[in-house]
Amino acid sequence: MFQIQCRLWILCISAILLLFIYNITLTLKLMYTPLCPKEIAAERSSKIIYKKCTKDIVQPNQNDRTFNLDLSLGRWDERRKYKLFDNIIVGDEYSLLSSSFRTCLATQSSLEKLPSIIEVSNHWNGPVSLATFAAHEEELNSLLMYVLFLRKCDIGIRNKIAFHLAITRERRPKSFSIDFALLETLDCGKPLEVLKDLLKDVNKGPNKWRSKLPYPQNHLRNLARKTCQTKYVFLTDVDIIPSKGMAESLDAFLEKAECKGQCAYVVPTYEVDERVAFPANKTELVRLANKGLARPFHHKVFIYNQYATNFSRWQNQINENPAVHVSHPVTNFEFLYEPFYIATDTVPPHDERFIGYGYTRNSQVYEMFVAGYEFLVLSPIFTCHWGLQVKRTRPPWREHQNNLNRKQFDGFKREIFSKYNKDPLNMMARKT
Ligand SMILES: *[C@@H]1O[C@H](CO)[C@@H](O)[C@H](O)[C@H]1NC(C)=O
Ligand SMILES: *[C@@H]1O[C@H](CO)[C@@H](O)[C@H](O)[C@H]1NC(C)=O
Repeated sequence: MFQIQCRLWILCISAILLLFIYNITLTLKLMYTPLCPKEIAAERSSKIIYKKCTKDIVQPNQNDRTFNLDLSLGRWDERRKYKLFDNIIVGDEYSLLSSSFRTCLATQSSLEKLPSIIEVSNHWNGPVSLATFAAHEEELNSLLMYVLFLRKCDIGIRNKIAFHLAITRERRPKSFSIDFALLETLDCGKPLEVLKDLLKDVNKGPNKWRSKLPYPQNHLRNLARKTCQTKYVFLTDVDIIPSKGMAESLDAFLEKAECKGQCAYVVPTYEVDERVAFPANKTELVRLANKGLARPFHHKVFIYNQYATNFSRWQNQINENPAVHVSHPVTNFEFLYEPFYIATDTVPPHDERFIGYGYTRNSQVYEMFVAGYEFLVLSPIFTCHWGLQVKRTRPPWREHQNNLNRKQFDGFKREIFSKYNKDPLNMMARKT
């Protein structure tokens, strides 16, 4: 009897031990087996179809070539017209730079204009938050390929830039694929040609509708702004190129900036003849302006755009302090003024009812003015846009978008009036 009990006891212990060992083996197996073996095998043969599982296949040595992007997730905008994805791929030093610089450059771009980011990143050493847009699957594939290409070829881009993405609700991409074999062959010396090839089919054939699709500028601006991690944000369009070393010189200024109320620091924007080199400093820029090779941005196309910045006053400073300083305040704010400025990101959002052309940026600046912001023009830093702009007739689709937004603006200005109970530009009596 005793012997039988003893044997049973040993059997029990053995069984428990066995189960225990089995459990540990299983746990270890789980820990060391990748969760998506198929995709990994597929990647070795150089092409991946991402659907689910994107996160699982990220391994330390592949961080630089994979996206944190699950198209079945994302954040909807207020009207459920667009879906937004934060930080789909993030610069290796983005977090570090965000804690060491005071200003983040927030910008937005379509695939067509993306090459401008190369020069921007060359001149701006702080963190960059870049929002991009893809209207359909082919465009998304081309966009992601181009982002990987830029990261492969440009160490600055690879380090500094956090990329974000917006897609449309209609015809939105359900999946994306990256041809890594193709990526290897793309020539770092020819970013424009590479883009041209990638764009070849994006707006054609069944995707012809794409060229008329309104571009959601304000969604992208908010996306880029809100993913910045610094105290100050400098919001630009991607083809607005900062003067060299601006991030550092701004830092020195902002460290001591004594703004009591609500301030926006305006950086003057010039358009520059494409035949000259990027002006090395303000002296050089003013020299170009005197020769007719540079002038205030949109001076001929739409003078109100920057007029209130008062460029003559800015250009005529003599014996100027070489450190960044306030040159003068904006004294003649007028409706449709839309400077590029640096401010804390507590400024009003960009209203997402404005989609496509017209009233996108100036409506936001207008609200700042009504809210009581002071605009202070900085010197000797500046930004440039390549090419002297000439007045062209607008294509009808652009006119159409502008008209739609003008109607939106009527409602917008009423809301601003009731929100702040102020009408400093007498907009309620004005036809816009
Ligand atoms: C400005 O740039 C020009 C052209 O590169 C250079 O000759 C000049 O010394 C610079 N001036 C200052 C104040 O840095
Ligand atoms: C520009 O500044 C000058 C003073 O330096 C002033 O007389 C002029 O009215 C200003 N113009 C604008 C558009 O603010």
